[in-house]
Amino acid sequence: MTQHLTFPPGFVWGAATASYQIEGAWQAGGKGESIWDRFSHTHGKIEDGHTGDAACDHYHLWPRDVALMQDLGLHAYRFSIAWPRILPTGRGAVNAAGLDFYDQLVDGLLAAGIQPYATLYHWDLPQALQDLGGWTNRDVAHWFADYADIVSRRLGDRIQHWITHNEPWVVAFMGEWLGVHAPGNRDLRRALAASHHLLVSHGLALEPLRANAGPAARLGITLNLTAVYPASDRSGDEAAAQRQDGFINRWFLDPLYRGRYPDDMLALFEGQMAEPQANDMALISRPFDFLGVNYYTRSVCKAARNGLLQIDTVQQPGEHTEMGWEVYPEGLYDLLTRVQRDYAPASIYITENGAAYADTVNGEGQVRDTRREVYLYEHFIQAQRAIAAGVPLHGYFVWSLMDNFEWSFGYNKRFGLIYIDYATQARTIKQSGLWYSQVTRQNGLA
Ligand code: FCB
Repeated sequence: MTQHLTFPPGFVWGAATASYQIEGAWQAGGKGESIWDRFSHTHGKIEDGHTGDAACDHYHLWPRDVALMQDLGLHAYRFSIAWPRILPTGRGAVNAAGLDFYDQLVDGLLAAGIQPYATLYHWDLPQALQDLGGWTNRDVAHWFADYADIVSRRLGDRIQHWITHNEPWVVAFMGEWLGVHAPGNRDLRRALAASHHLLVSHGLALEPLRANAGPAARLGITLNLTAVYPASDRSGDEAAAQRQDGFINRWFLDPLYRGRYPDDMLALFEGQMAEPQANDMALISRPFDFLGVNYYTRSVCKAARNGLLQIDTVQQPGEHTEMGWEVYPEGLYDLLTRVQRDYAPASIYITENGAAYADTVNGEGQVRDTRREVYLYEHFIQAQRAIAAGVPLHGYFVWSLMDNFEWSFGYNKRFGLIYIDYATQARTIKQSGLWYSQVTRQNGLA
């Protein structure tokens, strides 16, 4: 790899994780049950019956993990806070041990010179709130704001970057419509109600976060966005691509940045979604500081006759990751420049990008994951191009710091810069991690 990579001074290089995927200790320290505990304990939901019960045992091993982050030269670490560790039943009594855990983690990060970026909701809703309807119950939006208040009162003096939600599209549609994520429902009305309440909760939470973390704090939300292309220039395929863009990208970007849902999608969902309450759209489009973008692959669409959306996604030739996702780095450039053109966020972070490959430790104790290194390198080049084109991209978080529980795939997909031996909890920095430590230290590649 010869091409030079240079990023603007102050560009933030980090790595990301999420509580349920790494912490384990599912019942330790007073934690309550989450919907992912319940879902993974339900027979047949997760490949090979895996659960997050132990995961990477980060709850106990976090000092070791912070030391590894230092080895990687990370400037920043994006992690999520488990709501049921803070409030075991979602509201009411606060669990002091839960707050203490994150308090110590944040102090450990700061002592190591690593900036904490905290996500408040990365999918582990307290089960007690699911029993009340979960995100389909509008009250949950208010309980989320109360939880944001409690956490930011304690940590707002030290955490300067807050992300309300991770990928509300996945929460609402994979959890409530497609049934493959917790809580595992298959009901479009529920999904649409959930997606609206997730956005309302984002707007509500901005207020306590701002009050507790102060005017210098930066508040954002992370969306899973995809670069969408029509499979051909036939008008049917172009319309299918337009619907896919509406469903995944504009359904969240339009309310957040324009205070309205896209008309074409409202027409498609006609009769399935309740009218928003009077003040909702103003609440949802309250100003916030940065957009977090999670990008993995593109979506090539053609018209189909089946399903509500009438879209088929077309498998492309060429390189794919272990998830079956096409490697398409140019999509990152296309997506970032498009978001900038249409929505003009003040600041953007790539809050996740990375690849799963079937890694193994060789006889010398090394993990030679050249394909991951190439994947990241090619995406960094596209990020650099986007910056040159005027996109206010300020940081990049690789998914993931370490191998972890990949939702319905269990431990069968490895995304880490660090390899985890789940039997021993031994950690090994992969070749890609060693390479990334040069990028973080040189702010690119000399
Ligand atoms: C994203 C999730 C993250 C991880 C990656 C592979 O959708 O936010 O937790 O599972 O995909």
